[in-house]
Amino acid sequence: MEKLLIKSGNEIHYPVLKEEVLKWINLKDGGLYIDCTCGTGGHSKFLLSSRKNIFLICIDKDEKMLEIAEENLKEFKNYKLIKSGFENIDEILEKERIYKVDGFLFDLGFSLLQVKDPERGFSFQIEGPLDMRYDRSYKLTAFDIINKWKRRDLIYIFKNYGEIKNCEKIVDKIIERRERKKFETTKELSEFISQNFKERKKIHPATRFFLALRIIVNNELECLKIGLEKSVNFLKDKGRILVISFNSLEDRIVKNFLKEKNKIKILTKKPLTPSEQELKENPLSRSAKLRVGEKDEEEKE
Ligand SMILES: C[S@@+](CC[C@H](N)C(=O)[O-])C[C@H]1O[C@@H](n2cnc3c(N)ncnc32)[C@H](O)[C@@H]1O
Repeated sequence: MEKLLIKSGNEIHYPVLKEEVLKWINLKDGGLYIDCTCGTGGHSKFLLSSRKNIFLICIDKDEKMLEIAEENLKEFKNYKLIKSGFENIDEILEKERIYKVDGFLFDLGFSLLQVKDPERGFSFQIEGPLDMRYDRSYKLTAFDIINKWKRRDLIYIFKNYGEIKNCEKIVDKIIERRERKKFETTKELSEFISQNFKERKKIHPATRFFLALRIIVNNELECLKIGLEKSVNFLKDKGRILVISFNSLEDRIVKNFLKEKNKIKILTKKPLTPSEQELKENPLSRSAKLRVGEKDEEEKE
């Protein structure tokens, strides 16, 4: 199997489920496709290499990712990089005078390069500031949430976005500690959580707290709902929407959206997941789920 590794420094990003994405997006000659989460350009490069006469619009909130994507896509001319959020897809496409699209790809969450960059503060294993913003022009950071938000709001986000049921005690401890000394770094916070919270699942105790903070900092679930809703308005008949999600909250939104949306036919009854081969090459792909919907103008409302 040909490997498509997107490198920056020593870090490598593997575009997940890339063969499945290529198969299900169903590229057509002259087609226009939107990579809503371009990242370092892994999927974009694979699609552009697979069919000569398509055009891609590649969107990402993170300027740094787009710089790497530009380097990775330099052999192609038939694409355009745009720094924005996919929740603004209507404005982006209208500005480009694009009214109909053949396919949308969403590959949610963050890329390995963002996680491994200490400056970005996404990882509980790498020392860095409590930041977690994809778009660094936004104001809210993980530092603000953990050090300034009220008890009831912290409990709400850890329960609803980290799916941590019994978080009251740890929230009380966080509040007590931040009154003495604010949490400044990722490791300070993750070590504090490890010392004060027992995780029953086989994961690091800080995993679900960091997930909740990242979701809130980037307003991820709301952006996803808006992005999906707006995108389908631009789909051509038989155009497709592909979404790769990495946690149950995202997947639930995608599943319900495809089920409830008028004029959308679900093409994947069950989500597609990585093959044994892919899991061997890239164990980080293990939680990926791909769902695909197709615009069907004939479907009754
Ligand atoms: C999993 S990575 C994508 C990797 C990419 N498919 C590749 O193969 O290189 C997800 C990317 O989505 C970006 N992102 C997250 N939320 C976004 C949003 N609402 N709008 C645009 N980009 C977003 C992140 O900055 C990150 O670069």
